[in-house]
Amino acid sequence: MGRRAVASFASLLVVMAIAACGTSPPPAADATGGLRAAYSGPRATWPAPTIDPGVAFVELGRLERPAPPADPRRAARVELGRTLFFDARLSGPGQMACASCHDAELGWGDGRATSFGHGFQPLARNAPSILNAGLATHFFWDGRAQSLEDQALAVFENQSEMHASTGHVVATLQRSAGYRERFAAAFGDPEPTIEHTLAAIADFERTIASDGSSDFDRFLAGDRGALSDAAVRGLHLFRTKARCANCHHGPLLSDGGFHDVGLSFYGRKLQDLGRYAVTKDPADVGRFKTPSLRNVVRNAPYMHNGLFDLDGVINMYSAGMATPKRKPEQANDPLFPTKSPLLRELGLSSDEKADLRAFLESLTERRRRVRPPEMPALGESAR
Ligand code: HEC
Ligand code: HEC
Repeated sequence: MGRRAVASFASLLVVMAIAACGTSPPPAADATGGLRAAYSGPRATWPAPTIDPGVAFVELGRLERPAPPADPRRAARVELGRTLFFDARLSGPGQMACASCHDAELGWGDGRATSFGHGFQPLARNAPSILNAGLATHFFWDGRAQSLEDQALAVFENQSEMHASTGHVVATLQRSAGYRERFAAAFGDPEPTIEHTLAAIADFERTIASDGSSDFDRFLAGDRGALSDAAVRGLHLFRTKARCANCHHGPLLSDGGFHDVGLSFYGRKLQDLGRYAVTKDPADVGRFKTPSLRNVVRNAPYMHNGLFDLDGVINMYSAGMATPKRKPEQANDPLFPTKSPLLRELGLSSDEKADLRAFLESLTERRRRVRPPEMPALGESAR
């Protein structure tokens, strides 16, 4: 069993890379006004970031692809999880898999403003990228799930999404001799359970991680020519004048927190109260999870409602984001949202916006394609 698990893990290495690697010469002329030199030393010597009091800033940093699991049982769990991730037969009508909305070729989202759910009904929110989801502590835009396992369970049971039940999922898997073999390899027990199903999917998701291939990662690793002049200027803007690093920081470029950036559409047709739905704390109205910006270019369109392209996002931040105004009847409304005080009008020039964009583009990783695995046949129970 062990050898088979290792062999099947080898077949998992189907990540296709379409990019040239290697070190790049620094651009001939330095049009960064000394910033390239300032950012060429260790991170501790970088220019001071513009961070407001109370923000627990963590410097931007590298992410490297985690090593594949050495333990054969763990490897078998990842392979099982990958199969489950692609298996539409687990959804109620048998037509939707996790991979329907989280596609490696679409930056692990689905490229749509908001996803189509069960019966092709439009969902309310944008499918976020699940790249590096294994490093998060809260899941969904409102953080309502606290583990990848709980998150997957919620999707199976959501009648607008996979439209299934735990009973349906387990009964489907039990019918398959192939699946029973894979559960045995992964857990030492051929009997599929919902716990093992969720654990395997979560273990597969933990392998969906940044691989250190972005220009920014290569720059951090010492290839100082990996960033263009515009991206170096953009990095500096991101950490200083544009104030982005107040919320987008650390190796993920996310503080993992929840903020109101003024997009709750309170009292309007598109209203989404965000984190408030989970905590019932009026201070959380309109707060959403700060998304990671890794590979952000591939994850368009943006924000929880998927209404914006990247230039739109940069323009809105430059204007300080929209500030909702109370209507007279909302004068004493305790739920009226309060935009984060970390947002200010930035007044970025068009050159500065282009530089900021160049930095965000430098977070782009090698293109990946994850081939759907061979699906075990369903059939009569092998018992
Ligand atoms: C119909 C499209 C669709 C399907 C199918 C789907 N998802 Fe999602 N996924 C979404 C949307 C939309 C969200 C955000 C929903 C929200 O925030 O309320 C999301 C959120 C997530 C997140 C949270 C990411 C984060 O950073 O917070 C993870 C992880 C995830 N999905 C994994 C899965 C897994 C595993 C499956 C299969 C069991 C799955 N998804 C099936 C659309 C889908
Ligand atoms: C107050 C904290 C905060 C600051 C400051 C901030 N962001 Fe954000 N950012 C967020 C939150 C929260 C979201 C999600 C909001 C939503 O969906 O309603 C977000 C979303 C984004 C997205 C969309 C990502 C996606 O996958 O949908 C981009 C791009 C982005 N921010 C870039 C920036 C840039 C560039 C700056 C600086 C100009 C910046 N942010 C400043 C908190 C912040």
